[in-house]
Amino acid sequence: MAEPAGASRTAVLVCQGRAVAHGRIAPGRFADPVAMSLLRGDERAAVERARTGTPPPGVSARIEYESLTAVAETMVPRTVAIDDAVRARPNPQLVILGAGLDGRAWRMAELSDVDVYEVDHPASQADKRDRAADLEPVAGALRWVPVDLARDPLGSALGAAGHDEAAATTWIWEGVVPYLSRPEVAATVRAVAECSAPGSRLVVNYQSPSLKATLGLGVARVMATLSRRPDPMAREPRRSAWTPQRLRDLLAAEGWQVTSDDDLLTLAQQRPSPARHPTSTRNGRVTVADRGAWRRRP
Ligand SMILES: C[S@@+](CC[C@H](N)C(=O)[O-])C[C@H]1O[C@@H](n2cnc3c(N)ncnc32)[C@H](O)[C@@H]1O
Repeated sequence: MAEPAGASRTAVLVCQGRAVAHGRIAPGRFADPVAMSLLRGDERAAVERARTGTPPPGVSARIEYESLTAVAETMVPRTVAIDDAVRARPNPQLVILGAGLDGRAWRMAELSDVDVYEVDHPASQADKRDRAADLEPVAGALRWVPVDLARDPLGSALGAAGHDEAAATTWIWEGVVPYLSRPEVAATVRAVAECSAPGSRLVVNYQSPSLKATLGLGVARVMATLSRRPDPMAREPRRSAWTPQRLRDLLAAEGWQVTSDDDLLTLAQQRPSPARHPTSTRNGRVTVADRGAWRRRP
């Protein structure tokens, strides 16, 4: 099937980053064996070139190589931190907001008795379903919930798909906040809170404000144009960045207590994994927030 119009290109880029990193960066801590299977032919070829570890000749190929290498470095601490937070709070339901080409439902054995709900923009989700058609999930159940977080009511869509508001839920919101405006982020936090029973956990990956990072993104876009390659961010502009305190306040207002909030550079140094691109890793952050007392499942 051809890619549906409007499907996320940044979802492909971060999936490529995980495929580049798999088996090469922090092995034993990071693994995403599913990422490569979710990519199409030309996307895989670019990953293979980056996995050689040797910069190719030619400006265009070199720009692509450096871009994927940098994304791979960022994906490792982000993925490991989120996986750890999910494992540490084994709830019966996992909702992945803006799932893109997230491979957790296919790669995390710990989800074998968990109902996983993949929420994404309808065009991105149609693309994912086509890419994943031949893959067997390891999750207890996998439910598809097409939702535009900027427009559609989240709670009723999840409820119609079988989500139980009375049971604790772990939520992953990874790499999506930057593409939503501040009011859209606030509305999503409210909607998530409304269907989160005590014991729920919300894991948010977001960007903190940074002039240097904004300039870096501008440079990356110019490079993409110069290399005559499609710019993954052309249709997905960044809309919001959050200081840790501002996000903490927003979450607290909806009943979430932040238990950790770390930048990806710190997380990379703890893992350890390389961080040759400190600006992009320093400004990405992972927050873990909890709601009420948690009880282990009987
Ligand atoms: C950079 S990708 C991240 C994908 C995935 N979470 C990951 O980390 O691999 C951004 C994702 O946000 C989703 N997204 C952006 N705006 C959205 C919206 N208004 N409603 C639902 N999903 C949205 C896109 O469809 C895409 O899947």
